[in-house]
Amino acid sequence: MQILTGLEPLRTALATLKSGDNSDRPMVRPALALVPTMGALHQGHLTLVREAKQRADHVVVSIFVNPRQFGPSEDLATYPRQLEADAALLEAEGADVLWAPTVEAIYPPGYATTVQVGGLDAVLCGAARPGHFDGVATVVTKLFNQVQPDIALFGEKDWQQLAIIRRMARDLDLMHPRADAILGVPTVREADGLAMSSRNKYLTAEERAVAPALNQSMRDAAAKIEAGEPVADVLAALQAAVLAAGFRQIDYADLRDAETLEALTTPHGRPARLLVAAHLGKARLIDNVAVATGQTC
Ligand code: PAF
Repeated sequence: MQILTGLEPLRTALATLKSGDNSDRPMVRPALALVPTMGALHQGHLTLVREAKQRADHVVVSIFVNPRQFGPSEDLATYPRQLEADAALLEAEGADVLWAPTVEAIYPPGYATTVQVGGLDAVLCGAARPGHFDGVATVVTKLFNQVQPDIALFGEKDWQQLAIIRRMARDLDLMHPRADAILGVPTVREADGLAMSSRNKYLTAEERAVAPALNQSMRDAAAKIEAGEPVADVLAALQAAVLAAGFRQIDYADLRDAETLEALTTPHGRPARLLVAAHLGKARLIDNVAVATGQTC
């Protein structure tokens, strides 16, 4: 596995990897898959890499702790960084390239451009973290342009991020059109249901014992909505259950259209998601589950 931090070496490495591919190839089997990450890799990330390897000939994993997606009072300084350990994990998974750009390789001096995906970025986590999704959309656009993958893989745990990146890729023709160009991979969970996240490291032992209550309460709520209970009542009971379990604050607990993220007061026969963000100690946990409304996503 090559570990690269500068754009010219990346371009050379990608040209070598792609040499021999013909232009029709991306429609058949993708030559190149990208797995964008911020590092502190866990089984969720490694599942993305394994899926990428199944689907494409070559896999590039990026690790970049993107300053533009952190708010002023957020955890940019303390976000877990462990490049050597991450590189060893990726080497063992058989990734071809670890793209670990310097800040200058992403945001050169004088950098002035922001990508904004209107509407989808204003709700849910976007309301609680202003500017966050501008940072995500901007860095993902940069990574797509730098690596030029045929497909890119993201975890479904960050459902809103996935919806925004899909919208952006379509709007800006960022990828060669194919059904799996932006591939969402189901959330990987601990045995007790807690969604894997680099930020789970912030939980104390006591908080870690409380954390699975979030997913458990969400599954119960999804089942009630599927059984026809009124959505508003179910969401109120869900919030009460999460707070009673020991979470200190809930940013949102919503039923939304899975693609447009439009708020739903009743199931609407299209794929829907129940999404929650809640604070437990120093950690802000997010999770989402599908709600069967006649179709799945
Ligand atoms: O999901 C993440 O780890 C980040 O938001 C991403 C997509 C790598 C952009 O920095």
